[in-house]
Amino acid sequence: METIIRDQTQLRPVTPQAHISFELSRALDLLNNIDLSSDLKEQLLTHLNKASRISAQMETYLSSVTQPPSECLRDLERATLALPWQGDSDLARTLEPEMLSGHLEGQFLKQLVRFTKATSLLEIGLFTGYSALAMAEGLPENGKLVACELDETIADFAESYLQQCAAGRKVDIRRGKADESLEQLRSEGQSFDLVFIDADKPGYRKYLDQLISQPNSLLADQGLIVVDNTLYQGEIYTKPLEEMSENAQAIYHFNEYVRTHPELEVVLLPIRDGVMFISRKQRS
Ligand SMILES: C[S@@+](CC[C@H](N)C(=O)[O-])C[C@H]1O[C@@H](n2cnc3c(N)ncnc32)[C@H](O)[C@@H]1O
Repeated sequence: METIIRDQTQLRPVTPQAHISFELSRALDLLNNIDLSSDLKEQLLTHLNKASRISAQMETYLSSVTQPPSECLRDLERATLALPWQGDSDLARTLEPEMLSGHLEGQFLKQLVRFTKATSLLEIGLFTGYSALAMAEGLPENGKLVACELDETIADFAESYLQQCAAGRKVDIRRGKADESLEQLRSEGQSFDLVFIDADKPGYRKYLDQLISQPNSLLADQGLIVVDNTLYQGEIYTKPLEEMSENAQAIYHFNEYVRTHPELEVVLLPIRDGVMFISRKQRS
């Protein structure tokens, strides 16, 4: 019988913070089960327990203070977790429920859209539509969001779900490989105030080049590019390059490319799995 994933707590760790919590709780389990002189053990347990609580309870606290998600977002998260992720279903071959960005990042993106007064948004990597819907909720009445997605099954799911929400109806889904969709959007003369990159990690650099290349740039003059997973679960700063996974290596090289790019400004923030802001340097 298939097990249904009911909430985020059943998902594997995919952020540096979640990895820290996981490792601390493993260390506590081990320590509780070994014989040590009682004084030393007590001291170690006190420190580890404190670190573990601070780390493990942070996400819950952040969520509790943050504006709750809309009904539509809440239901979309539930519906995503209830998809058939176990076994060898078509979905589980290339996708996983951990891909959904979730409450905190969703509200962050929604507010970012509001603060920047962006009216045209582009998302590269739609999945079931959570971040797209969150950003669309931050758009004004006349705003639009174009979202690129390669996987037909998940694009079908997202499309039918988004149609049921007022903000979701602002989302125009472009199916197929994102690099090809970007070329198509460019030939249509489209430009975007805010772009969220959250697709295949080895593709990030090409997407960035496509977005900023002139003439007819897809990124508006004062536009902002937001890039997800730029800490890649902490791998990129804790492992030697040759021991990193393929995705972590791609992110490592992407971050270096952006950092040394003469025309770009960048800041990397420890939100969830690392959120990077990229904009063009402004000429004074
Ligand atoms: C991490 S998920 C996106 C999560 C989504 N932004 C959210 O917050 O819920 C990445 C998505 O990118 C899609 N993807 C992977 N490679 C792609 C490509 N070359 N072109 C377009 N989409 C791609 C995957 O199918 C997957 O749905």
